[in-house]
Amino acid sequence: MRVLLATLLLCVLALGCRAWRRQHYESDSALCGCLNNGVCISYKYFKFHRCSCPENFIGEHCEIDISQKCYEGNGHSYRGGANQDIWGRTCMTWDSSLLASEKYHANRLDAIQLGLGKHNYCRNPDNQKRPWCFVKIGRRQYMRECKVPQCPTEQEGFQCGHKSMTPRFKIVGGSRTPIESQPWFAAIYSSHAGGSTSFNCGGALISACWVISAAHCFPELKKERYFLYLGQSKRNSETLGEIRFEIEKLILHENFSTGDIAFHNDIALLKIRSKTGKCAQPSRTVQTICLPPAYGDVPIGRECEVTGFGYEAHNDYIYPEYLKMAVVRPISYRECRQPHYYGSEVTPQMVCAAHPEWRSDACQGDSGGPLVCPTDDHMTLVGVVSWGLGCADNNKPGVYTRVSHFLPWIQAHTGLI
Ligand code: ARG
Repeated sequence: MRVLLATLLLCVLALGCRAWRRQHYESDSALCGCLNNGVCISYKYFKFHRCSCPENFIGEHCEIDISQKCYEGNGHSYRGGANQDIWGRTCMTWDSSLLASEKYHANRLDAIQLGLGKHNYCRNPDNQKRPWCFVKIGRRQYMRECKVPQCPTEQEGFQCGHKSMTPRFKIVGGSRTPIESQPWFAAIYSSHAGGSTSFNCGGALISACWVISAAHCFPELKKERYFLYLGQSKRNSETLGEIRFEIEKLILHENFSTGDIAFHNDIALLKIRSKTGKCAQPSRTVQTICLPPAYGDVPIGRECEVTGFGYEAHNDYIYPEYLKMAVVRPISYRECRQPHYYGSEVTPQMVCAAHPEWRSDACQGDSGGPLVCPTDDHMTLVGVVSWGLGCADNNKPGVYTRVSHFLPWIQAHTGLI
């Protein structure tokens, strides 16, 4: 102590503080126990060390990360600087002598591992629900939950049925649509012997790992033959933001069959996996579509949207380059059963939809694609493009697989709720 005073005196006497500064040097971090890349500083003539902490870290061992504004999980690893209980009362310091008889305090041997020390920040050393601290109320101390939010988790990223963009430009009689306005749309391709590929069908993302489509799109049950893209506005293009997925599982409805003109139980599920083994991640161009309630009613007459890379006229032979969307309205089962519509080919497991003046419709190549309708504040998957006579012909609506009637089947195969 005498030496310290003497040195300080020298400084004060302006004999140069440089001498003082030269007396400290970096030493082995283990000596100080600095965490988070803190640097251990030792002073030559005194048995004294301290940690010099990088930005955002404070505390004797740089163990406090003041940039942590929320806690993950139950907050066991939270090392941030919140220091109030939920009522705004200030926490007691963990080294307070009043806590000596408590189980958790700064003088435990494992205090540093538990985040306890000479500070009053909220911690969760004992795996409670969330970070807490001791608060002095009257003459006693009490454990109290802290005022600090939980960090949002990654999976909350998907918000089914929400578009990141609603375009108003103007399939058959439809309009070009950027993928941002149909971000659940999946473009399904098939690869052929010899290495060539061709566009196959549409689909819709219903969860991170599952795409729904039509069974008649997969005449060959080999999942290796198919792959798909999410986030694709232009056919066969690979620009930024499009992600290719392989098919890990291909499930066709066990009772899929072909009638005279109709398909029955025309529904399929594809489990997707990217090259790195991951499912889909939410973004501006990739979103899920909400499933309807089981056996829910068809929103007859509502303006719904069907999307796809299908033909723009019945006798076309090339698919359009850009994704298109048409506005169509669901028609009642009774209307669709009329003899001059489809008669008994239509069943209650199907939804018919058309333009009131037969001006727009889905067409060849749109199969498997989604028919989505606005409900509350989001879009819901009402149908999967299945069949139709011609395209946008009078009295010949587009016919879709009625998704709400297949909800138990979807749940049984995907485990989704
Ligand atoms: N089965 C057709 C396909 O494979 C879909 C036909 C839809 N037709 C209609 N007029 N809506 O692409």
